[in-house]
Amino acid sequence: MDRTQLIETAQAIVTNGKGILAADESTSTIGKRFSLIGTESSEDKRAEYRGLLFTTEGMEEFISGVIMFDETLRQSTLNGGKLFSKLLLDKGVLPGIKVDTGAKPLAGHEGEKVTEGLDGLRERLEEYYELGARFAKWRAVITIGDGIPTRACLESNAHALARYAALCQETGIVPIVEPEVLMDGKHALDRCFEETEETLTIVFHELFKQGVMLEGMILKPNMVISALDCSEQASVEEVAEATVECFLRVVPSAVPGICFLSGGQSDLVATQHLNAMNSMKDALPWKLSFSYGRALQTAALNAWGGKSENIPEAQKAFYHRAQCNGAAAFGQYSNEMENQV
Ligand code: 13P
Repeated sequence: MDRTQLIETAQAIVTNGKGILAADESTSTIGKRFSLIGTESSEDKRAEYRGLLFTTEGMEEFISGVIMFDETLRQSTLNGGKLFSKLLLDKGVLPGIKVDTGAKPLAGHEGEKVTEGLDGLRERLEEYYELGARFAKWRAVITIGDGIPTRACLESNAHALARYAALCQETGIVPIVEPEVLMDGKHALDRCFEETEETLTIVFHELFKQGVMLEGMILKPNMVISALDCSEQASVEEVAEATVECFLRVVPSAVPGICFLSGGQSDLVATQHLNAMNSMKDALPWKLSFSYGRALQTAALNAWGGKSENIPEAQKAFYHRAQCNGAAAFGQYSNEMENQV
């Protein structure tokens, strides 16, 4: 394990208020996003869309890394044919790769999932390294409901996350460890707090058991938040305070950065939450930043609408969201910034 390289990469991801663009939707997920804008999901259209994000001028001021799907890491810009990984590296943006193969039903545990993808992972990681990837992502999905999550679900997912992370570090790739407690349901913020605390406790226990070097990883968690259908929605300040309180309890200070997922929050609210956490007076042991998918992309995707002539508008929208989140990573975002598109 090259400890120095891993630490440098992990720190580069969260340096100077920068964060991650999660553009690693699987072919099926990006197909669903495209169908919402009435666009057919062909390989060329996917390359056009991802290419418009990656070639946005100045995005590197706020984006330190991009998570891609296997197909995207092998694709090139449509004009000029430059490999996306090379294009990003030339801008000082680290290429990343989603390496799990999806969350599948956990046997004997109705309503719960376990993420797969460990078989052959060492060889895949070696190839991804050759293709330019310097960090990876594995997402575990935890659902809150009646009697769930079970200990079996939490432990199975944490075990897989830790084995994935150890394999990444062996290959010189920084693991993004993503245990996502879903926002789906009607539960209140307190329940999310409890389940997130337990999930992260078990995840860090497993990471320790598997010998994962915490200084060379990034955590990508959910925020502590009210469920989407909860009748009482916590305020921005309550979410920020609960999230920081929960993480101070269970996330070791050796972890250099926490890059949140947006998980169904609107893009504005995701930015406000990050900003509120970074505006809190107390110094925090880790950098708090973003690894947003939908919250960084929705405005750009809608502005593009599948039409090449809309690329400049889409890039403007993407740059603006990246800029707002970059400011939020310093606690310097304000609602006025929304009018400065
Ligand atoms: P969202 O920010 O849209 O939740 O996506 C982040 C991600 O990478 C989920 O795995």
